[in-house]
Amino acid sequence: MAKFDFQTLKLEVMAAIEASQALEQLNEVRNLYLSKKGKVSLLLSEIKNVVNEDKKAYGEAVNNLRDELSQVFSAKQVTLEKKALNAKLAAEKIDITLPGTSEEWGYKNPFWIIKDEIEQIFIEMGYQISEGPEVESDDFNFTLLNIPKNHPARDMQDSFYIDVNRLLRTHTSPVQARVMQSLSGKTDKIQIVCPGKVYRRDDDDMTHSHQFGQVEGLLIGHNINLGHLHATLDVFIKKMFGEQRETRFRSSYFPFTEPSVEVDVSCHECNGEGCSTCKGTGWIEILGGGMVNPEVLKMNGFDPEVFSGFAFGIGIERVAMLRYKIDDIRRIYQNDIRFLKQFSRK
Ligand code: PHE
Repeated sequence: MAKFDFQTLKLEVMAAIEASQALEQLNEVRNLYLSKKGKVSLLLSEIKNVVNEDKKAYGEAVNNLRDELSQVFSAKQVTLEKKALNAKLAAEKIDITLPGTSEEWGYKNPFWIIKDEIEQIFIEMGYQISEGPEVESDDFNFTLLNIPKNHPARDMQDSFYIDVNRLLRTHTSPVQARVMQSLSGKTDKIQIVCPGKVYRRDDDDMTHSHQFGQVEGLLIGHNINLGHLHATLDVFIKKMFGEQRETRFRSSYFPFTEPSVEVDVSCHECNGEGCSTCKGTGWIEILGGGMVNPEVLKMNGFDPEVFSGFAFGIGIERVAMLRYKIDDIRRIYQNDIRFLKQFSRK
């Protein structure tokens, strides 16, 4: 047996290391035995009590002991670190096959669904989109559309005026005048649709709203006639309401079109037989239109001897209500999630 062997201490330390279940416990073992003031290090300070010729052997023995124990210590440390990491990973494990918690999606209001669809149908026929201001001058809203001074729509009671010359536009038709003026002399063809909001001083009820949406249509060119308008609106009606639907013109009056028509679609409920939806007539009125009045062409820079055109105005809510069987226009504006949920995101 070597002169200095610290067998008892060594076994004690090895046992303590071996017994450590976690890193904290192992650290305590280090503090107790292997740190600067630990029991193993303190052996070194005992060297002063060793006789001179043995000092070397004593020092080597202590160093060997310390190295050996440090190795055992490090090996245990690696093992316990691994164990701790595995425990942490197990605790943090997530099951990626579990369904997530999903947020509720918003829904597109039927107003916007239909507005986009109307635009799309006309874009496919070669139309471009134009827009105009909602606060409009009295000139563009009325005068340049041949609406006479005494027309009831010009009354303060029927429109929202901002000041004497400005009001919230009562229809999208002023965009016709704006576009004609901006293109006068520069083109011999206009083919646009103008979606937007319009305002009238109506009391809100099932079928009236003081704010609603229109899509204006305007086509100007050479030799345009009412047949072109009929064919165009027939394409629109069939795409919007189904291939079986038919289009009917009834004569009507608007100051800015001559002749003017009220456009009906054959009833989708009874196929024209007559039912409660169409009030027994077989037809449902959906929009107004006509040939652009020569006065309007002239006032906005297109010579009626050279140019002719048609215009129409589609009520967005009216189309949405028919398409989705919505009984009350106010539902479109109330933003009741139970109502909106019925419209798919597609
Ligand atoms: N501006 C008309 C309205 O609001 C609709 C319309 C547009 C009629 C274009 C004819 C031509 O009632």
